[in-house]
Amino acid sequence: MKKVMTAVAIVVLIIAALWHCKTKGAAGASAADAAQKVYVAPGTHDEFYNFVSGGFNGQVSVYGLPSGRLLKIIPVFSVFPENGYGYSEETRALLMTSHGFVPWDDEHHIAMSLTNGEQDGRWMFANANNTPRVARIDLRTFRTVEIMEIPNSGGNHSSPFITENSEYIVAGTRFSVPLDNQPDVPIETYKENFKGTVSFIAIDPQNGRMNLGFQVLLPGINLDLSRSGKGPSREWFFFSCYNSERANTLLEVNASQNDKDFIVAINWKKAEEYARSGKGKVKRVRYAHNIYDEKKHMATTKWEEEVIVLDPKELKDFVYFIPCPKSPHGCDVDPSGEYIVGSGKLAAVIPVFSFSKMQKAIADRNFEGEYDGIPVLKYEAVLHGEVKKPGLGPLHTEFDANGYAYTSFFVSSEIVKWNIKTLEVVDRVPTYYSIGHLCVPGGDTRKPHGKYVIAYNKITKDRYLPTGPELAQSAQLYDISGDKMKLLLDFPTIGEPHYANAVPASLIKDKSAKIYPIEENQHPYVAKGEHEAKVVREGNKVHVYMTAIRSHLTPDNIEGVKVGDEVYFHVTNLEQDWDIPHGFAIKGANTAEILIMPGETQTLLFKPDRVGIFPFYCTDFCSALHQEMQGYLRVSAPGSNVPLKYSTGSPQVPQ
Ligand code: CUA
Repeated sequence: MKKVMTAVAIVVLIIAALWHCKTKGAAGASAADAAQKVYVAPGTHDEFYNFVSGGFNGQVSVYGLPSGRLLKIIPVFSVFPENGYGYSEETRALLMTSHGFVPWDDEHHIAMSLTNGEQDGRWMFANANNTPRVARIDLRTFRTVEIMEIPNSGGNHSSPFITENSEYIVAGTRFSVPLDNQPDVPIETYKENFKGTVSFIAIDPQNGRMNLGFQVLLPGINLDLSRSGKGPSREWFFFSCYNSERANTLLEVNASQNDKDFIVAINWKKAEEYARSGKGKVKRVRYAHNIYDEKKHMATTKWEEEVIVLDPKELKDFVYFIPCPKSPHGCDVDPSGEYIVGSGKLAAVIPVFSFSKMQKAIADRNFEGEYDGIPVLKYEAVLHGEVKKPGLGPLHTEFDANGYAYTSFFVSSEIVKWNIKTLEVVDRVPTYYSIGHLCVPGGDTRKPHGKYVIAYNKITKDRYLPTGPELAQSAQLYDISGDKMKLLLDFPTIGEPHYANAVPASLIKDKSAKIYPIEENQHPYVAKGEHEAKVVREGNKVHVYMTAIRSHLTPDNIEGVKVGDEVYFHVTNLEQDWDIPHGFAIKGANTAEILIMPGETQTLLFKPDRVGIFPFYCTDFCSALHQEMQGYLRVSAPGSNVPLKYSTGSPQVPQ
């Protein structure tokens, strides 16, 4: 044990030492050359969208590349007061879980929908690590439209990786836990009672809707990262795992004992057959499935109560373990689908496995034994080869279209380019500092677009103007069009980016929605014109059917509301022009503002706490008379007999 602790301590010291011996300039590119390559002239567009997970901010942010300009923040698992996400009555249900309303999560990975293994620009999926969930973002609207909770799960880290034709996204447990139906067990019974699960979530090819197809039960290992196969390996999924020791305390030491952990190979096609033919066990669970209806402009929660669980100890020949050195993290499949790259965080080599060799080893029953009743393939039988002395602390690998792999090294703070077939290192560049994930446009698909690799760094130190104890997170853009990688640009990012996708803008930009057609608006409280604006009392609930159009709200004078009432401001934006949102806010509301897109209806709930006059107004600068876009709500005492009254314009306007 002492040895291991020493190894961990040395790694930490190396990290500290490495910052000090880095040079800081652009690697190999002259400043003018670099500037020219990232310059996007005013009024012109970037070539790629870069979708970047936000880590602990629970959001996805969207940048243009090569400029690094921030275009949009998409709230996913975290409330977003800027537009009312998670605060408005319509969006609150998206954050509902079996634990109630969970307004935050830790979002690590994203996955773009694929057709024939290529990016198709339709949806982006994202994972929630803390309270296990997966989300779908519609790339027509850049909005989160669906979130599904994952039962029998803890720490949903190896998620939401996707199959070649978007048949499934996955959700694998980083923290093994007892299944939901046996929650109260002693922690010391970890090996017996704690399980890993991999959920396969089916995607409807027409509308993207998610459906929990089945779960695969695994021993209590920590599933880390994952990739689907491609081409010849398309029916398989690969998961890295650590803690094959199945430790439940001081994992820093106890989960670093074994020389090899595993890559878990799951034949999802065969698992699907088992599930469809009734070979799984149906387990009672309870989880939230939240869907946003774009016509009703509203999310609702559906409670799901069953899941099919497949046990590979009973159902044979669909799960195998491949030994992989020292706590693998990244588990990446090259564009051909033949090579599977394991990145042992504490390993001195990068092992590259061969899918065809794996198939042969399975056919020949070339096993070195079993792990918890599941066959373990022989390392040498499956190995294509090892990249020798690649660097320190390999984490993730992306690919270009020319047979090269790009691996991030956290400890030695660098990106290393190597040849997938020959396993030779051909180039390396420093990153500033301690790179985590990296991304090549299309670099996780069958058709990489190449051109750039982007580093998402964990530590920033001196790269930007200081901003107190917390510094901006940093991405770095490198040109990979030549033999040598060249650093072009630093750009600060928000949250703590983990994985990212870069997608040609042409796949998305022309499909972007500009408005919501008002005639299609089926919101139950819509007002499709000012003549439909009204205020209706139902007991202590007051529904304000309000409209917004440049530059007034209708109604803008409301009386007859009392302390104890719940006032629902259902605001419909009557505009049908691109880029004309209106906002709505009222003094003292315990929520946030709402931003209402053209043709949309959104609702702010206001519970007045005192008698008085409450101003409300438009928060989005919509016209020269934006500042005039305001009104008043009169709130009277609980027993008052002030009649309900509302108006816009006359009779108050002086003649
Ligand atoms: Cu509408 Cu400002």
